[in-house]
Amino acid sequence: MSHAFSAALRKFRTALVLFAVVLGVASALILNPSSALANADDDERAERAERLANDMPVPMDDPAAVESGKGRFGERCGYCHGGGGRGAKGPCLVCGHFKRGGKSSAIYTNIAVGVMGTQMGAFGTSLSSEEILNIVGYLRSETRRRDASGENAPH
Ligand code: HEC
Repeated sequence: MSHAFSAALRKFRTALVLFAVVLGVASALILNPSSALANADDDERAERAERLANDMPVPMDDPAAVESGKGRFGERCGYCHGGGGRGAKGPCLVCGHFKRGGKSSAIYTNIAVGVMGTQMGAFGTSLSSEEILNIVGYLRSETRRRDASGENAPH
């Protein structure tokens, strides 16, 4: 190996090491924000998740509709999904995560047509669409309340 070549190689290696160090420090700074920033991110993430989940109008901010949905839920759903929807032999519906889709439209559909091959029946013929919407409104508002009170794990 010529002297000039190995000198150039050494320089190149030094530059490479320096570059790696700079990259490492930069990415550590970017990937490791302060915890205050991380908390702000959590709030933003929760808000964004709620916006995405609300893909159809659901009366979650209408107290009369929520109250009516809560009553109907108690009559028709509570004995499988537990008091307040917290889960029994059927899954929790207010914990912020769903196996069959957590968007309002998916929850609505699962209530209306049921989940085939499971105990979850179809309620689309025995409940009106307004009654189902009120139930979804109740479940969403209860989820939001539990998120805010810390009863739900972050999701
Ligand atoms: C006979 C028991 C039973 C009744 C009554 C019942 N469910 Fe279910 N439900 C289940 C079970 C079991 C599942 C889980 C099905 C699966 O995904 O394996 C389920 C699943 C669901 C899901 C999907 C959950 C997810 O994780 O995606 C929703 C939404 C739901 N039920 C809403 C309701 C509502 C609202 C009512 C009342 C109108 C109701 N259910 C009544 C047993 C029941």
